[in-house]
Formats: sequence, C-alpha cells, structure tokens
Amino acid sequence: MIKIKINDKELKVAEGTTVLQAALANKIDIPYFCYHKKLSIAGNCRMCLVNIKGQNKPVISCRERVKEGMEVDTKSTEVKKMQQGVLEFVLKNHPLDCPICDQSGECDLQDNYFKFSKFPSRLEDKKIRKPKAKPLGPLVTLDDERCILCTRCVRFCDEVAGTHELCITQRGGHSELTTYPGKPLTNAYSLCTVDVCPVGALTSTDFRFKKRVWFLKTTPSICTGCATGCNIKMDWDDAQVYRYRPRENEAVNQVWMCDEGRLSYKFINENRLFDPLIKKNGEFVKVEWKEAMRESAAILGDTPVASSVIGVLSAQASCEENSALKKFLETLFPKAEFFWTKKEVKNPSHDKFLIDADKNPNSAFLSLLGVGPLEGGPLAKGAIYIILDNLTGKQREALVASKPKKVILFTSNFGDVPLEGGTSPLMWADIILPKPTFAEQEGTFINRQGMTQKAKKAFEPKGHAREIGKVLEELWTTLSPR
Ligand code: SF4
Ligand code: SF4
Ligand code: FES
Repeated sequence: MIKIKINDKELKVAEGTTVLQAALANKIDIPYFCYHKKLSIAGNCRMCLVNIKGQNKPVISCRERVKEGMEVDTKSTEVKKMQQGVLEFVLKNHPLDCPICDQSGECDLQDNYFKFSKFPSRLEDKKIRKPKAKPLGPLVTLDDERCILCTRCVRFCDEVAGTHELCITQRGGHSELTTYPGKPLTNAYSLCTVDVCPVGALTSTDFRFKKRVWFLKTTPSICTGCATGCNIKMDWDDAQVYRYRPRENEAVNQVWMCDEGRLSYKFINENRLFDPLIKKNGEFVKVEWKEAMRESAAILGDTPVASSVIGVLSAQASCEENSALKKFLETLFPKAEFFWTKKEVKNPSHDKFLIDADKNPNSAFLSLLGVGPLEGGPLAKGAIYIILDNLTGKQREALVASKPKKVILFTSNFGDVPLEGGTSPLMWADIILPKPTFAEQEGTFINRQGMTQKAKKAFEPKGHAREIGKVLEELWTTLSPR
C-alpha cells in the first residue's frame, strides 16, 4: 500500500492501481465514460481529467497510476471547468432524445451532465445526423447519433468475445460505430455490448420500448439457462419479467452472461399453467385446489405402502423442490424409487467460457443424491409416478412405455405446445398441479463448479400456482395417519 492525497484527504491505496480506481474505491466521484474495469484502458473520452500536483497539464485519471506522495485534485474550479468542457464536446452533436431513449434513467451521460455540468448548449450550427435504429445483429440495435465513441463495445468484442465484429469508421464528428462488412454482431455474448455502452447508443432489440427502467424492480437471482448459473439481476414489474442483466460474481460469470441465457426469461411470462387440471374422460378439466388435493390424496392413500411408487426429480427444479418430494415419498413409501429428468436439447450450444452444454441449472444437486436418469430404467410396470417437471423426448417415452397406473405432475408451464382439449402434450399425466417458477419462490441451485447459489423470490406465484413444499405438506397431513 502507498499513501496519496485526493482533495487533501490522505488515503492508503494499493500500488499499481490507477488514480480513478483509487478514487472510486474511496467513494470519490470522478466522472468517466470509456473506462470499464474488465476492458483495456482506452483513454479516449477525456471525461476523467484531474490535476496532479507537479504536473504541468491535466491528466486522465483512468490511465495514471498512483505514486507515493501523489496529490490529486478532482474538484477545484479548474477541474470542474474541464469536466464541463468535455461534457459540452460530448454533447455537441448528441441528439438529446432522452424522452424516447431506452437508456434514460440509467444513462451515464445523463447522470454526468446533471452531476458535473448542467450547462445549456451554445451550439448554433445544425447537429451532424447519423443512422438511427440500425440493427447491428439480430439482438442489438444501434442509434449512432447517441454514440459517444468510447469504444467499450469494440473492446468487448475484441477482448472478451474475441469475435472482432465492431469498429469505428470515418473521422472527427463524423465518426461512426459500425460492423465490418459481412460480419454482423452475432457473437454468443452480443448483448453484453448493451451492458457496457454507457449511453443509449446500443439497445437490446428484445427490450427496446417495452418498459421505462424506473418502473422496474430488481431481484438478485440466478440464470437457469445452463449449469453455469450466471448471477443475474432480474428486472420485473407487475409479475412480468422484462430482462435479465448480469450481476457481478468474479468466481462464476465475472460481469458477463450469454445471449441465450439472457433471453431465457420468457417462460416465466408465457404459456403458464394457472390452475390444477384433472383428466376426465380423456380431457383435462380445470379444478379447484381442494379437488386436486382430494384426488391426489385418493391416489396415494389407496396405494399399498409396498407397491411401486416412483418419484421423478428434476435438474430444472431447485434443491428445495427436489428435497421436498424425496423426503415426502421416502417417508410415506419406504420402497419408493427415484429417477431424475433433465431438459433435453438437440445440439446444445457450449464454449470454453460460460456456456455449458448441460442446459439444466441443478444437475450437480442430483448427482449428490445418487439417483439415475428416468430413461435409464428398467421402470416397474404400472407404478404411481409423482413428477417434478415436464417430460420430453426419451424421458416421456420411457414413462409411457412403463404403462403407469397414475401420474401426478407438478409443472409451471404447459410445455412446447399450448393445452387444447385432448391434444395436450401433457396427456400422459392424470393430475397436473401448477407450481411457481424460480422467479416466484426462493430456491437454491448448485452450479457446475459445485457452488450453492440462491435465487431470490421476485414476486408472488402467478395464477393459483402453489409451492411444491406447501402442497406436499398438506398432502402429508391428510395421508400420515395411515
Ligand atoms: S456504441 Fe456505446 S459502447 Fe459503443 S462506442 Fe458508442 S457509446 Fe461506446
Ligand atoms: S452461460 Fe448459462 S447460466 Fe450463464 S447466462 Fe448463459 S445460459 Fe445462463
Ligand atoms: S475514462 Fe478516462 S479517458 Fe475515458
């Protein structure tokens, strides 16, 4: 550690850090745009200018390393004038379309202007016009007039994604961000460019104009798109999830996440099961929970303790949901067998960075339980099944081939095809009980590194969905005197 002074305040800071990092670590506000802690230092925006005693001109604090005895000034009248000057330049051709800009409310340019400038424009000429709403790839839209040429997005593609799609062309005020000819922004992490863009130049095509950010509530959660378990901020309002953003966790995902995982929120909003269903005369009928519980208790209550009962755990479900079912069946039916199911994906995406080919968030927990896959059989004929999540492909075939006596299924969604009369893909079940998604209840997941991570509850369960633990507890009370 070495000693420096910032604004006459003596501080101990780590050797090798920059003046900007030292200031930020000590809650001293220096405005900046092009600096990003996970990218190389570009030093092109000049927003972070400070004065350092003994130096005859201002320096950019994002590149200047601290030295023993250094005295830094970040807030004198002279420094403030420099900050205002830089902001005036940055804003010279800026369209100032904050009222229709998606970044409004979380924009560094807006924030820095209000904190460090508030000067009206003195421009008398017409502003330079540039392309607006230009798709850079399938998921990212560029408003070039809003771009402040900080190159964070270019550096992300070069240094993190390693795909080099973006570049700045032209010169001076006419400079434009664009993709190389024939090379659209299609890398698997392209939406991270939206995260690093400090202004509203890059926006998510999926999220654009869906919601003003100040209406969103944020819940710390975990992406359930694959076994990596990237830490996320879940942004939602009125029981609808609008977007995921990466939440910093150096040990898991640093500050990044993949596009596929980022867009995996949609199942929380769509195709949801809100009420219990019971199969009557070959068709599902919506029923009250009371009736569903009575029917479920009748199936389990009529089953001799020694007969075949199978619990199907799920790598999509949380540790709590899996443990609740396992404990319930083990206690009621000591000979109950257990299998697991996982989400099956043909040709799953994967890479050496974050994306795992296993598209299940909790496979590691199931390995700890030491049970085998459902399709690995052999399955007892005519068993009673209680299943924790939708079955697809080989898993469903294995179940149907075992000619089950009765199937009780917990699920939050109808599956790939919406329910319509007798043609539902869920017809292999007899009773379907609606459960909340991980956004509507607290849950724990164990990722591929063996790290136990918590997804917090964002909002109340949708429709009449009920937590598995509570449903099993009620069934237990009905059945336990046996
Ligand atoms: S689009 Fe955003 S991140 Fe990229 S250079 Fe422009 S302002 Fe910077
Ligand atoms: S790498 Fe996996 S956990 Fe991370 S964002 Fe992508 S899908 Fe989600
Ligand atoms: S943040 Fe220092 S020059 Fe841009």
